[in-house]
Amino acid sequence: MADKTAVLSVNGVEVELPVLSGTAGHDVIDIRALVKNGYFTFDPGFVSTASCKSSITYIDGDKGVLLHRGYPIDQLANKSSYLEVSYLLLYGERPTPEQLNEFVGMVSKHTMLNDQLVHLFQGFRRDAHPMAIMCGVVGAMSAFFHDSLDVANPRHREVAAFRLLSKMPTVAAMCYKYNVGQPFMYPQNSLSYAENFLHMMFATPCDDYKPDPIIAKAMDKIFILHADHEQNASTSTVRLAGSSGANPFACIAAGIASLWGPAHGGANEACLNMLEEIGSVDRIDEYVAKAKDKNDPFRLMGFGHRVYKNYDPRATVMRETCHEVLDHLNIQDPLLDVAMRLEKIALEDPYFVEKKLYPNVDFYSGIILKAIGIPTNMFTVIFALSRTVGWIAHWIEMHGDPDNKIGRPRQLYTGADVRDF
Ligand code: SDX
Repeated sequence: MADKTAVLSVNGVEVELPVLSGTAGHDVIDIRALVKNGYFTFDPGFVSTASCKSSITYIDGDKGVLLHRGYPIDQLANKSSYLEVSYLLLYGERPTPEQLNEFVGMVSKHTMLNDQLVHLFQGFRRDAHPMAIMCGVVGAMSAFFHDSLDVANPRHREVAAFRLLSKMPTVAAMCYKYNVGQPFMYPQNSLSYAENFLHMMFATPCDDYKPDPIIAKAMDKIFILHADHEQNASTSTVRLAGSSGANPFACIAAGIASLWGPAHGGANEACLNMLEEIGSVDRIDEYVAKAKDKNDPFRLMGFGHRVYKNYDPRATVMRETCHEVLDHLNIQDPLLDVAMRLEKIALEDPYFVEKKLYPNVDFYSGIILKAIGIPTNMFTVIFALSRTVGWIAHWIEMHGDPDNKIGRPRQLYTGADVRDF
């Protein structure tokens, strides 16, 4: 991996640093030798820093490429299923039909929560944000699974992966039901992953509920498009929490907490709130001006990305799905008109073009979810549900990495020099 070197010359000292190459993307300069030469690197937000080796997902931000184990996201979204993609993320290769069958069977058999956990919901106010509930419930799951908390045991890690993959839709739907004051619906193991989620969300004990196959397919596609995304903020949070040996449920709860931020997974909720605040196409110019105003903290939610300086390939698929769902449900949503107009402006306005601010994955997902009847405050919960398999795949990969050690960044100290008290 290291057939090239970089030479750093500082204060008359020359430090030779190996340059490592991966399968694709940027080479990296291995700076591990720097500290013994008396230097740290400085990179707030880790814009230029690779935190680990990984073979799960590859992103080329300039080309708008997203690969999961080498497979392009648009092919996976249009030809695969969330559970098949989950298998690919966790095990590195596509499952055979038999392997997929067994995997789906295993996931379907662990969808229920321990009945004691159900009481935990009662401790929340009915109007608690569902992300707060989800964070609390997932963190508490470690209190129920003492038999799979040895993070050094690969079998324990696999069991925790199954439990999280199986139970997240149940937890997510229960957060919604708790908010709306309806009884929790038990999972139906005969349904597909997406159908089961829709059933737990919208069925009640009083009516028969049959998930709409078009909506279930769109839901499954939304799960796929959010499944993993390299070393984003929440995945890096899961890795950092996991590096101390914390149990998988605590690590995923940390990932949920990080995802909640409006600059990250909270953007889909913030994006829809923004579209509703704009309200109509004739108010767009006012908001675009606010987004450009350096003195105004307002940003166009659903636009821009740390890595994609070209179109987010997930937004392309999401846009098609958005039109499919709205056409199928025969919904003329004025917010879609606002979104389409906003997208057109962003793709033409010099400010956005120069800063390479394109619609990201969160831009269209909110419109689809709203059309399906999912409330805005549940959007990030669905993002967390989808991203759980990516988080756990990275957590497992980290534990299998011989270079794995506790994450402990250093700092540039700018505080007071030593002084007597
Ligand atoms: C996700 O990392 C991932 O992979 C995340 C994610 C995943 O799948 O895990 O893809 C999911 O989080 C998608 C991003 C969702 N967030 C939003 O939609 C929130 C709105 N976007 C911005 O907050 C912002 O674009 C970020 C946080 C996404 C990226 O910010 P960066 O890379 O740190 O860029 P920056 O903040 O330094 O901005 C660069 C410039 C700045 O102007 P200057 O200071 O250079 O003059 O672009 C401007 C910013 O002011 N800018 C925006 C903008 N985003 C950046 N201006 C207006 N509207 C925006 N949305």
